[in-house]
Amino acid sequence: MDNCKAIVFDAYGTLFDVHTVTEKCELIFPRLGGKISNTWRQKQLEYTWLRSLMGRYEDFWEVTRDALVFTLKEQKVEWSDEALSDILNEYLHLKPYNEVPAALGKLQVQGKQLAVLSNGTPHMLQSVIRHAGLASKFSYVISVDERKIFKPFMDVYQLAPDKLGVHKEEVLFISSNPWDVSGAKVFGFQVCWINRFDKQFDELGVEPDVVVRTLDELAEKLQREG
Ligand code: 2OP
Repeated sequence: MDNCKAIVFDAYGTLFDVHTVTEKCELIFPRLGGKISNTWRQKQLEYTWLRSLMGRYEDFWEVTRDALVFTLKEQKVEWSDEALSDILNEYLHLKPYNEVPAALGKLQVQGKQLAVLSNGTPHMLQSVIRHAGLASKFSYVISVDERKIFKPFMDVYQLAPDKLGVHKEEVLFISSNPWDVSGAKVFGFQVCWINRFDKQFDELGVEPDVVVRTLDELAEKLQREG
């Protein structure tokens, strides 16, 4: 990585496992946990893109709630307000992927400034990060809510260099979401794709600069490069 001064992370699906919700969904809707979790995440992302294109921003908490309501309606299940908030509240304490806490520690020791840039609302991000005990790892937790439009809208990536006081070329942006990796690359960051589940990368005319399987692998690679 050339002259990387700051490392900026996507949150959901990258640091935190969005499918942590499966267990709670399965408890309330037996045998449907996995299906609900998958559709919910897909719809949540689609709604961010559609709302951005339509200029009809609602924050990520609202979008996440709407996506869950769609998913439950599609499954033709019945639910109470309590069940809905129980499932939704899982988003406030999603689990980090196993290697994440220690790998962030390794990157911190290397003197890199670490930050999060996410579609999540400030409240959602603070909660999930605090719950995972990762608050001390990040110098900035940046939410697109400041700009009222979601990634991959180009302007929101600019929030990171602005806050961190670095040039965009000096940022290494890390995401597991191919659409986000592509957006960040088009914007002008150096980008790393964490491909934990052997997924296919998108055909959007750009490629990540680095591909790793875990965050640990990246921390080791950066350490070797000094
Ligand atoms: C993010 O954290 C939604 O994963 C996306 O911004």
